[in-house]
Amino acid sequence: MLVTLEGIDGTGKSTLHEALKEKLADLTPVFTREPGSTWVGDAVRRAVAEQIDPVTEATLFVADHAAHLATVIRPALSNKKLVISDRYSDSRFAYQSVTLNGVIPDPEGWLRAMHNGWSIVPDKTFLLAIPVDDALTRLAGKSDREHFERREVLEKVQDRYLAFARMEPSRFVVVDALLEKEEIACFVAEAIRFTLQSSQSHRRL
Ligand code: TYD
Repeated sequence: MLVTLEGIDGTGKSTLHEALKEKLADLTPVFTREPGSTWVGDAVRRAVAEQIDPVTEATLFVADHAAHLATVIRPALSNKKLVISDRYSDSRFAYQSVTLNGVIPDPEGWLRAMHNGWSIVPDKTFLLAIPVDDALTRLAGKSDREHFERREVLEKVQDRYLAFARMEPSRFVVVDALLEKEEIACFVAEAIRFTLQSSQSHRRL
């Protein structure tokens, strides 16, 4: 089963990813992330830091996803592992549809078409949502801020994410990222166990 964690920068997504390592240890999940499970991730980070060009950046993020699927996700899923990824394709559909706006026609359609036929849709996606002001406050102390981490961008990215959650209500679970860290981690861990059990009993029917 493939579970993904999504949300704008500053929602505490990576903290949640860390907390799940402890809470779900008995299930021995494979914890992974995008960008960066292979050296392609280094190229992505470099393109983002140098702000080369939005199309270069978007296609590198997709290349990183392909490498991630080939080296981590597919092998783990074929071994029947639970996979939990900190960011995945919805990050592209949300962030790059904003960064490519005005650069190419229909960025979201272009991005989705690029994934069609070979990517894997997650079974469950937890979307951490937060007022953008709170996300910016949390990011204020961070020294290495990416060009995405600006109000104008994050507002639009979060709007995209929330639109995806409305489009696919059975896959997305929207989580209030202002709740206590521990409360969020317990809720998500239990929801993952529940989803896993229901998918197993469904398979037995
Ligand atoms: P992340 O590693 O979550 O941030 P950090 O380095 O702060 O821990 O992701 C790096 C940035 O890349 C983040 O601002 C979101 C962005 N991103 C995209 O724009 N598109 C993508 O497809 C992915 C996976 C991330």
